[in-house]
Amino acid sequence: VMVFRNQELKPEGFLRFSKYFGELEVHVLDQYLHSEYPEILIVSNVLEDDRNIGIPDAGLYWHTDLSYMAAPSRGSILYAIEVPKSNGRTLGNTIWASTAAAYEALTIDTKRQISGMKATFSLSGRFEKVAEDEKADTELTIDQGNRAPDVIHPVVRTHPVTNRKCIFVNELHTSDIVGLPQAESRALLAELQEHTIQTEFVYRHSWLPGDVVMWDNVATQHIAMHDYSLPQRRLMHRTT
Ligand code: SIN
Repeated sequence: VMVFRNQELKPEGFLRFSKYFGELEVHVLDQYLHSEYPEILIVSNVLEDDRNIGIPDAGLYWHTDLSYMAAPSRGSILYAIEVPKSNGRTLGNTIWASTAAAYEALTIDTKRQISGMKATFSLSGRFEKVAEDEKADTELTIDQGNRAPDVIHPVVRTHPVTNRKCIFVNELHTSDIVGLPQAESRALLAELQEHTIQTEFVYRHSWLPGDVVMWDNVATQHIAMHDYSLPQRRLMHRTT
């Protein structure tokens, strides 16, 4: 995770910077794309004409971006434009966990147990989970669901650059471990999740307007704190 403070970026500059690192993706939730620059996903609780201008419930649970796609995002970049505050305290922090450090700290037995295991990752499952918890602010259309069918990925991925092994399953997008009975799969996913987000593996970022944070979606997973509401405004631009 890398943090750059005090940036002043127009969408063109943010895209130019993002493109230094690879080809950009256009998010499947097209209702939240920047109207002129579709590679920018707007993450925001701001309403205009009673409509959310950006995705309001992004990052409610631990996840890596687009891990439900056949080719998950290699990295993400988030640019803070408006940050909510209360009594001088910044709200809407984001927390990242190192999935590489977490993997290395697993017991030998758990490493053996999960070696070679595969899991299902599901965008529609993400929507069901958020709706079940009555936190849904976003809807998935049938067409969007069809563009992101469930996919299978390994439970542990090897980082393409460092070769470190990283825990890839996450709370939001992983629905089950292939071949395990449901109760066992749920218990193992919960155990891996709880292990990954221990204090020693995490960095918590308190945003300032102008911050650009970029991160590795193999070596980390993240969650955003939804501890604010309008009139406290949060507005971010994201590329993947
Ligand atoms: C995300 O999940 O990519 C958004 C994180 C955030 O809003 O802090």
